[in-house]
Amino acid sequence: MPLVAHRVYLETVGCQMNVLDSEMVMALLRRDGYQRVETPERADTILFNTCSVRQHAEEKIYSALGKLREHKRAHPEKVIGVLGCMAQKDQQQIFARAPFVDLLVSPGQLQQTARLIELARQGGVRQTALSRGRDPHAPDSGPAGHETFDPLRDPDMRPHPFQAYLRIQIGCDKFCSYCVVPMTRGPEQYRRPEQLEDEARLLADQGCKELILLGQTVNSYRHTTGGRTTTLADLLYRLHEIEGIRRLKFVTNYPSDMTDSLLQAVRDLPKCSRYLHVPLQSGSNRILQRMRRGYRVEEYRQMMQRIAELLPDAAVSSDLIVGFCGETESDFAATAEMVRACRFKNSFIFKYSPRGGTAAAQWADDVPDAVKRERNHRLLALQTEISLEDNRRFRGRTVEVLVEGPSKQAAKRATDAEHLQLSGRTMCDRIVVFPGHRRLIGQLLPVTIDEATPHTLLGRLPDEPPDHHLVALAAHPTSPACQDDTPFPDPSPETRR
Ligand code: SAH
Ligand code: SF4
Ligand code: F3S
Repeated sequence: MPLVAHRVYLETVGCQMNVLDSEMVMALLRRDGYQRVETPERADTILFNTCSVRQHAEEKIYSALGKLREHKRAHPEKVIGVLGCMAQKDQQQIFARAPFVDLLVSPGQLQQTARLIELARQGGVRQTALSRGRDPHAPDSGPAGHETFDPLRDPDMRPHPFQAYLRIQIGCDKFCSYCVVPMTRGPEQYRRPEQLEDEARLLADQGCKELILLGQTVNSYRHTTGGRTTTLADLLYRLHEIEGIRRLKFVTNYPSDMTDSLLQAVRDLPKCSRYLHVPLQSGSNRILQRMRRGYRVEEYRQMMQRIAELLPDAAVSSDLIVGFCGETESDFAATAEMVRACRFKNSFIFKYSPRGGTAAAQWADDVPDAVKRERNHRLLALQTEISLEDNRRFRGRTVEVLVEGPSKQAAKRATDAEHLQLSGRTMCDRIVVFPGHRRLIGQLLPVTIDEATPHTLLGRLPDEPPDHHLVALAAHPTSPACQDDTPFPDPSPETRR
C-alpha cells in the first residue's frame, strides 16, 4: 500500500497565484512522503488547482473531472480533490456535477490539504475546507478566514529553478463589478516586510535569480506596523539588497495606485525590470464606471504620461475585456483608440464572462457571443500590429537576456542536445529566442537581435553569425518559429499549467 499511497497528480490552471499555491501544496505533500506523477492513472491522489475567473476555465476542469468518472469507479480508493478558486465559489455545483469528488479546499485553506487527503482516504468521507464568504450581512458561513502558507517553498515545482514567485499580498478589496477574485481569495491582506525579506533570502539561497512579486493589485501593498508604513517602493529597495537576486518584477498593478515614488524606485533600482502590467480593461469611461474600476480614461492616460517621463524605456502591458454588459460599438472603438494611444507591449484580451456572485451578474449579458468574438479578434489584430512594430525596433540592437530554458519548440522536441534553441527575456520582459548551449540557462547574457515577430525577438549571441534559418522563418507568420513561445509573456489567467 505505501508505494501507491503516496503518488500525487496535480494539475494547475489559473493565474500566477495558483502556480505558486501549487508549489506550496506540492512542498507540503512531499514533506509527507508524496511523489509527484505525470498522469492521473499513475496517481492515487488526483488534484486540480482551479480557476473561476471565466466560465471557460471552469468548464476545462469539469471536462477533466468528467474524464475521471470511469477511472474513479474502477479505483474507488483513489482520492480526487478540487483545490483553489472553484472550490471556494462552487462547492454545491462541483458535488452535483462530479459527485465522486472527495475533497474541496479553497485557496485560503490549502495548508490543510495533506491532512484532508488522509482523512478522505481513511474515512472514505468527503472533506471540505472553505474560507468565510464575503457577504457582510450573511451569518458567518464558516470558522475559517483566508490564510497564506507561503514559507514552504519547493524549487522542483517552479517553472524555472532560478525564478520564483513571492506573494506579498493576498485577496482583493477592489470589487470590480465583473470579478470573482474578491470572493474566492478573500479580503486584501499584506504580508510583513520582514517575512518577505526572509523568504526572498531563502529563495536566493536556493539559486533563485529572479523574483516576481505577486498581488492582485500588487502596487497597493502597504504594510503598517508601529506607526511605520512600508510601500511596494520601500519593499523593492529592501529586496534589491539581497545578494544573488538579479531581477525583480511585480504583477499585477492597479492604475490608480501607480505612484511616482514606485516609478522612481523602478527607475533607480537597476535590478527592477522595466516592465509594468497595468490592466486598462476598457477605454470607455461609461464602461469603466460600470466595471467599478475607480479611474477614468484620462487618469490612465496621465499615468502613461508619467511612466513615459520617468521610465522612457519601460514596456507596459494590459488586460482588456470586450463585450462587457452594455458595451456599444463606440465604447469598443474607444478601447481600440486607447490601445493605439498606449501602444501596449501586449494585451490579454478576454470576452466578458458573467460570474455568479458579482455585481455585474445582475445585469443583462447583452453583447452576443459572436460580437464579443469579433471584437476580440479585431482588438487582437490591432495589438499584434503594434507589438510587431515595436519589436522590430529591436533589430540590430544587443539586449540583456535572462535565459529561462529551452524555447517552446525545443522543449516540444524533448531534445537533450547540448546545443539547442533557448528562450529568455529582456529587461522589459520581451521574449528572446536564440541558439546556444544548455549551460547558459539561468545566466544573464547579451543577445543581438536579428529579427522580430509580434511576440518574440529572434537573436544570437553577439559573437555568433546570424541564424539565417530562424530569421527566414520569422518572415512567414505561419511557420512554427513564429509561434514559438506564448503569444503573451505572462501566463494567461486560465491556460497556465
Ligand atoms: N487582479 C488583476 C487581474 C485578476 S483577473 C487586476 O485587477 O488586474 C485577470 C484578468 O481577467 C482581469 O484583469 C480581467 O481582464 C479578466 N477578467 C476578470 N473577470 C472577468 C470576467 N468575468 N470576464 C472576462 N474577463 C475577466
Ligand atoms: Fe478582480 Fe478588480 Fe480585484 Fe483585479 S482589482 S482581482 S479585476 S476585483
Ligand atoms: Fe483564482 Fe487566479 Fe483564477 S485568483 S479565479 S486562479 S485568475
